[in-house]
Amino acid sequence: MKTLIKNGTVVNATGTAQADVLIDGETIAAVLAPGSTLLGFDLEGHVDTVIDAAGKYVIPGGIDAHTHMELPFGGTAASDTFETGTRAAAWGGTTSIIDFAVQTTGQRIETGLETWHQKAAGNCAIDYGFHQIIGGVDEFSLKAMESLVDEGITSYKLFMAYPGVFYSDDAQILRAMQKAADLGLMTMMHAENGPAIDVLAEQLVAQGKTDPYYHGIARAWQMEEEATHRAIMLANLTGAPLYVVHVSAKQAVAQVAWARDQGQNVFGETCPQYLYLSLEDQLGATSDEWGAFEGSKWVCSTPLRSREEGHQSSMWQALRTNDLQMVSTDHCPFCMKGQKELGAGDFRAIPNGIGSIEHRMDLMYQGVVTGEITLARWVELTSTTPARMFGLYGKKGVIQPGADGDVVVYDPNGHTSIGLGEGRSHHMNMDYSAWEGYEIDGHVDTVISRGTVVVDAGEYLGTKGHGSFLKRGLSQYLV
Ligand code: URP
Ligand code: ZN
Ligand code: ZN
Repeated sequence: MKTLIKNGTVVNATGTAQADVLIDGETIAAVLAPGSTLLGFDLEGHVDTVIDAAGKYVIPGGIDAHTHMELPFGGTAASDTFETGTRAAAWGGTTSIIDFAVQTTGQRIETGLETWHQKAAGNCAIDYGFHQIIGGVDEFSLKAMESLVDEGITSYKLFMAYPGVFYSDDAQILRAMQKAADLGLMTMMHAENGPAIDVLAEQLVAQGKTDPYYHGIARAWQMEEEATHRAIMLANLTGAPLYVVHVSAKQAVAQVAWARDQGQNVFGETCPQYLYLSLEDQLGATSDEWGAFEGSKWVCSTPLRSREEGHQSSMWQALRTNDLQMVSTDHCPFCMKGQKELGAGDFRAIPNGIGSIEHRMDLMYQGVVTGEITLARWVELTSTTPARMFGLYGKKGVIQPGADGDVVVYDPNGHTSIGLGEGRSHHMNMDYSAWEGYEIDGHVDTVISRGTVVVDAGEYLGTKGHGSFLKRGLSQYLV
């Protein structure tokens, strides 16, 4: 199967160029001057499919490096399976995900990882890799870390939050980081002071403050700043590279920036919800059906932050200045019915998470429209840096000969209406959209995954099982 994408503007992290892209089989074979005949050879007459991308951007497929399909949480599980979640990702121009395999306390890492392989294998529409959640750092998990690189899993996540569930204390973090420094693994950190948050949450509930809004009050920015600093210092001591996930507080960004200015290998991601949504929005949300519990739609951790305090603008700035390097979704969807509603009357029981996998490319493109970021930076934040950060670059994250044929044709003059209703763009397995009513300048027209067209002209053409497991190398972002 040969596909020629002609007349488009190719956007890589390095900039833009008018070029045609030839995909042969699963691989980009050539990036050519527009209309090139290759030494007199008529290309168009020798390919199976020609896609005219005139007036459109031709970009490397999005890489969402932080997703949680089927994550067990709070007595329920994230509502997207690998099948439904990767299909929704494809709809939105994402052609690879890195999900989190889970090891819970007392379980062996090997068992948790095997479970995740079983959940994903044969079900994905697009390629997928895993990070390893280590929910119980003990002698067995420290030993098992030694095999992760061979498994193609070169990053793992620890939690300074959620005591009794995924939580690691400082001694466990120190031991894991020492091991990671030896092995070259990237430590990903959920940086919030969980034990202190639990006290604050208990006090709020005792005062009758049980609405979803108080989730964000309990998870105060001081809790994120303090944990981010502690993680940085432990990483500094051990020499382990550190990647702080879902950064939402401007004070946490300042910690990441401070460490980077000292030359430490510290990186950070933020997520669309921390760029667009706010604690004020959550407080103001009420509906006939749910009343103030409507705010549970946006309960996630780290929480939404106050717009008045300037967290959102600080995130955009950090993305421009490279204090933050990437945007992932932290896709962790739950339905209102039967899932979020478990926390009606006590915000502590609301499953934490927002579903956005389908909208990340569109939402981040709005940053180009409003002038917050450049076109090249859009691609860098959503595809190229995720590839480099997590050992996929060259194969993924760039339009160049030899790379996988993961390509998106994006129409800057198109329009996308996000939400559940008729003519709107929601394919995630959720009974609501955290982004209902968002109107997007731009549209994902065509999505190609390893040479196969999976979405085109508003039609899903992909297949369950097309997606392959990505054995990742070590981070290519480290000096
Ligand atoms: O609210 C969130 N983020 N849920 C998923 C689990 C995590 O901490 O990433
Ligand atoms: Zn987390
Ligand atoms: Zn997460």
